[in-house]
Amino acid sequence: MTVAAEAARRIAELRQEINHHNHLYYVLDAPQIPDAEYDRLLRQLQDLEAAHPELITPDSPTQRVGAEPLKAFEQVTHAMPMLSLDNAFSAEEVEDFDRRVRERLALDEEIEYVAEPKLDGLAISLRYVDGLLVQAATRGDGVSGENVTHNVRTIASVPLRLTGERYPPVLEVRGEVYMPKAEFEALNKRARAKGEKEFANPRNAAAGSLRQLDPRVTAKRKLAMFCYGVGEVTEGHLPDNHFDTLQTLKTWGLRISPDIACVNGVSGLLDYYQKIGEKRAALSYEIDGVVYKVNRLDYRQKLGFVARAPRWAIAHKFPAQEELTTVVDIEVQVGRTGAITPVARLAPVHVGGVIVSNATLHNEDEVRRKDVRVGDTVIVRRAGDVIPEVVSVVLAKRPPEAVPFQMPGRCPVCGSDIVRAEGEAVARCSGGLFCGAQRKQAIKHFASRKAMDIDGLGDKLVDQLVDAGLVHDVADLYSLSRADLVSLPRMGDKSADNLQLAIEKSKTTTLAKFLFALGVREVGEATARSLALHYGTLEAIAAADEEALQHVPDVGPIVAAHIHAFFRQSHNREVIEKLTRAGVHWPAVEAPAADAQPLLGQTFVLTGTLTTMSRNDAKARLQALGAKVSGSVSKKTGYVVAGADAGSKLTKAEQLGVAIMSEEALLSLLAEHEKA
Ligand code: IVH
Repeated sequence: MTVAAEAARRIAELRQEINHHNHLYYVLDAPQIPDAEYDRLLRQLQDLEAAHPELITPDSPTQRVGAEPLKAFEQVTHAMPMLSLDNAFSAEEVEDFDRRVRERLALDEEIEYVAEPKLDGLAISLRYVDGLLVQAATRGDGVSGENVTHNVRTIASVPLRLTGERYPPVLEVRGEVYMPKAEFEALNKRARAKGEKEFANPRNAAAGSLRQLDPRVTAKRKLAMFCYGVGEVTEGHLPDNHFDTLQTLKTWGLRISPDIACVNGVSGLLDYYQKIGEKRAALSYEIDGVVYKVNRLDYRQKLGFVARAPRWAIAHKFPAQEELTTVVDIEVQVGRTGAITPVARLAPVHVGGVIVSNATLHNEDEVRRKDVRVGDTVIVRRAGDVIPEVVSVVLAKRPPEAVPFQMPGRCPVCGSDIVRAEGEAVARCSGGLFCGAQRKQAIKHFASRKAMDIDGLGDKLVDQLVDAGLVHDVADLYSLSRADLVSLPRMGDKSADNLQLAIEKSKTTTLAKFLFALGVREVGEATARSLALHYGTLEAIAAADEEALQHVPDVGPIVAAHIHAFFRQSHNREVIEKLTRAGVHWPAVEAPAADAQPLLGQTFVLTGTLTTMSRNDAKARLQALGAKVSGSVSKKTGYVVAGADAGSKLTKAEQLGVAIMSEEALLSLLAEHEKA
């Protein structure tokens, strides 16, 4: 083979392999190779294409961010209008919808519906010609929208080329482009740190990201897409119902929500609504309701449309997560690292099922930008399980005497100066561990489950111990006498005994937990574990310089600087010495080579919701022990770890006779092997 022919062969092979892993990762959520391996393949392809530019094709995985910035968006007319949906806000309205459907179809039996999450993003139409993505457009007014092909190409879960066979020559697929919650939070956090404007919700963030003229900006935003229907299809071989159509789209590489279900009659619809509502907070994306669609396409045909919405579908919305209330006061809170957070105290109000009486205002700039004042009427929002926040002020209702918020110059707890370092959005109390608030937080962190795990030493008790002057730093916990404890209000003999036992027990720990417990800024559990594994001893970590620290996986210049600074402070060294003198100890960390990979050769699949850690953490911890963590269950799977609400993977494991492990069993397995 000539060099060029060999390059062409290898390029084709790499593209296929990369597309395959891309699909596993982004569409099926079931990666099979580590990210580093994927990056290596992509780099190989980029290098080969750079050497042979004539072999570059638009569907190459290297070409997602290829396009030059646009001057303006072009309008495109949809081949078939993109419709919207009618809304139902109650069970009665859903019953009415179902009754109307049956009446129009003159049917007495239960109707089969497909129920889907209603994603809070924006509707997009993808046009594939001969399997190649040629156009992506926004819904616009339903008749015509904007051509956003250059941006949609950057979305990893959108295939640039369909896979499989027998897809129609022209296939228009419709779905929702959205921003995952975690990405939304991270984007806003970055905006906040830079003093830039935040997005009000994931939908605005997704829309703002797609309406970028420069695709490189969109590419950084990590959008995703779920497909929920088809538009124009020529000479198609599509099934005669919606559910099977979606399954067919899946075989062509398109991403379909795993939470879609086929249900019967009103009771099926309402059960689904209930179940998704319970799952809502745990979903990785924002939804504002569910959508019900008649499954049979011939029925849909008969039902037709009214105005711009089909008669065969309806959106059942969740109750609003935003409410109006008034700001009673604005206070500042002091965090463990001294960060000052302004908090709005609100007249209590029900938002999406819970009573909200506080909302974070994040930082000084944020209060100023939103110009929140005591006495203002504000819109508060609660999204999933995140801290409620003030969305905006209703200016028309502002009392005339309301004055702008002024950040205090001194810490409300210890009176030290509040300082805001240049370029930082966060103001901090300069009191350090002299500040009671920081001390309390530091002690609560030290005692927490993932740190020293002192059972029974809760927030209230820490407050009491510090307020009574019994504990000044974390080491004082180990010199508390029984008399000290019993002197506290509401502390019985039995509780005092239990607490003393727990404190005693916590003396036996691990280096990683101890490091984490110290509360060095930016050193979370995973970083603490990496440091422990890398250095083996506390002395070595304390002695390392900033440059050396950056050789540890997970440690960048900022983290290195915090670690270095921490061990240079004499009072920190004194506390550590006091702790070791009190008997806090840990076993030597074994070199990773010794038997670091006890789970080598074993494959795990994680499914359902874990309560003590995220699936990602569980995955990282298993991988650190040598295990392979796969996304799909097969006969080769060693164990399926089943958390709450485990679904099809658990069923499959049962069918195949694969061993099933509870979260508890996983924890004890990890505890057995994690020595750091
Ligand atoms: S079907 C004719 N399915 O909701 C059917 N829409 O209010 C048209 N949406 O513009 C849409 N999730 O942006 C459908 N599973 C889902 C959806 C969904 C979110 C959005 C979509 C549409 C809007 C209509």
